[in-house]
Amino acid sequence: MITQKTIQEVMNTAKVEEVIGDFINLRRRGVNLIGNCPFHDEKTPSFTVSPSKNIYKCFGCGKGGDSVRFIMDHEHLSFPESIKFLAVKYRIEIEETENTAKEIENKLITDSLYIANDFARDYFCDVLFNRQEGKSIGLSYFKERGFREATIKKFQLGYALDERDEFTKKAIDKKFNIEHLRTLGLTSKSDLDFFRSRVMFTIHNISGKVVAFAGRTLSSDKKQPKYINSPESEIYNKRAVLYGLYFAKDAIRKNDECILVEGYTDVITLHQGGIENVVASSGTSLTKEQIRLIKRYTPNIKIIYDGDPAGVKAALRGLDLILESDMNVKLVLLPENQDPDSFLAGNGTEAFNAFLKDNEEDFIFFKTRVLLSDTGNDPIKKTIVIRDIVSSIAKIPDTFKRTLYIRQCGEMLDLSESVLLNEVNKVVRSDAKAKKESNSPHSQELPVDSEDQWLNPKPVLSQSEPEILRNDAWQEKAVCAILVNYGHQVIDETKKQTISQYILESVQDILSYFDIELYRKIIEQVGKKIDSGFTPDHAWFTGHEDEEIRNFAINAMSSPYTYASWEKKEMFLQTQKMPDENYVRDAESALLRLQLRKSKRVIKELESYLKDATPDVVETEDYGINFKVYQVLISQRNEIAEKLGTVTL
Ligand code: CTP
Ligand code: MN
Repeated sequence: MITQKTIQEVMNTAKVEEVIGDFINLRRRGVNLIGNCPFHDEKTPSFTVSPSKNIYKCFGCGKGGDSVRFIMDHEHLSFPESIKFLAVKYRIEIEETENTAKEIENKLITDSLYIANDFARDYFCDVLFNRQEGKSIGLSYFKERGFREATIKKFQLGYALDERDEFTKKAIDKKFNIEHLRTLGLTSKSDLDFFRSRVMFTIHNISGKVVAFAGRTLSSDKKQPKYINSPESEIYNKRAVLYGLYFAKDAIRKNDECILVEGYTDVITLHQGGIENVVASSGTSLTKEQIRLIKRYTPNIKIIYDGDPAGVKAALRGLDLILESDMNVKLVLLPENQDPDSFLAGNGTEAFNAFLKDNEEDFIFFKTRVLLSDTGNDPIKKTIVIRDIVSSIAKIPDTFKRTLYIRQCGEMLDLSESVLLNEVNKVVRSDAKAKKESNSPHSQELPVDSEDQWLNPKPVLSQSEPEILRNDAWQEKAVCAILVNYGHQVIDETKKQTISQYILESVQDILSYFDIELYRKIIEQVGKKIDSGFTPDHAWFTGHEDEEIRNFAINAMSSPYTYASWEKKEMFLQTQKMPDENYVRDAESALLRLQLRKSKRVIKELESYLKDATPDVVETEDYGINFKVYQVLISQRNEIAEKLGTVTL
């Protein structure tokens, strides 16, 4: 693990304009730099880099963050990988916490497994090109299939001889540990070669290391399995590997799409034909881990099925997983008895691409169409299909997307939109409940309210009242924006009090009345940090692990006048000075406004209680207490209003 000290050092040293300047052309505009956004297509630059705040923000697509975030998003690296990347750039020495003896031992074992696999790969490749049997059987087979020599070398294809233990003996001669060879499935329990008389496909992980092999028999003997594969091991988790991804990742990013095919040979033929954004899931249906891998590069996935309708129907079931992860899924069904490999080899790249273009179909529409095609007029069968489609649509996390599907599938299924919507919502609700229960077995049921909010994001504000009166979102936001921008500034030199401390103290009492969860969360997190003796600064906010907080901070910091412009809504500026010079007063007035809103609300509640009280309630102690509270609040409210200089009554 990288130490916190190194992380801090990297974050403090990395200059956002230098880091980003390595990737895109930036030019100066005022105090900022601008350029074309690398995260979306644009002709006029809206990607803005602020050296003084050490952040970037694209006003076109909304992406923003600090140097580390930029490297994570642009280079598709994890957080520690990005820290290492920047450490290299700035020649910062990386300090890592000591590994335990066990960790060191495991690392040594994994390293030796990789080395043994490399040795096997080199052996199989050498046999293919340099041994008589390899050349006459293996190489000529690959060439017959149309694989060029450069392709064979790139994918590290090979051949395993029809020998009992030639490979194992050689490996032992080279001092490879027999246990490791067994773990990797290169050698059988009785010390024989595992792969014999097969053409070999090398399987790489995402960084190009050899994790496994697949051997295809060339014999027509039906009793022989067509492929045999390396077993799972410390270095091979078959659920988390996609064949070809190492060679495809750049093209996937560039095309913003990943093509998924069924076989090794499909990947290789397409790649050779110039379609490089292609991977295969090696004979299994796509797993969550594989989807996550793809999602690092693109949200768009196109699945090409061999022309075999029965197989397709079975495969459709597995695809809901992809919907759950909010990817866009398209399907293409090839003509009967064709696979991508044969179709491309027979028709050429141009015709292949044209076929994809003309035949690709959205997954849900495809599924609806295929399933409907054999229900005929049978109402029972049709009901089953509808249930199936409803459950797929319910898996889509994005409400808007769901709505669009409901509209179109309603038409296809000849159902009214509202009926379908209702059904989908029922499933979404029960899925959410099931999920919640499985996450925390003893938790209580979701309150109906929050559940519905999840279904159809509740407009924060109800329709009848003017926006600004419906809740205190604006005031809460203003306070948080000041906290982000100026929280670390010191107000009182003698007491060393910071704006953050001042704000935290002032909102303590009303925090439970906050309307917006995010703003409450921000205040609470800042509070915790202050308690631990650290005052959050810009970098703390912009590098925050919580995406919501981070994005709020970037937005709040991106425009120095944002909170000034909110004031126009209901209020007026205290002075004509810009916020940067005026943060103390602005913090004061933002807080007062927030307090004013909260006290007005409580006053309103109390008023209706007092007004509606029946004579016997008026006699109670409760009533007396509430009446006193009411009076105190009124005088507080007047005090606040006076400070603010606004007329309240
Ligand atoms: N597969 C497997 N084990 C088998 C059969 C198939 O692991 N016994 C996997 C392989 O990943 C294979 C994929 O399923 O690539 C698709 O199978 P298939 O179309 O039969 O194989 P291809 O690789 O396309 O081989 P070919 O074109 O040479 O028939
Ligand atoms: Mn095939």
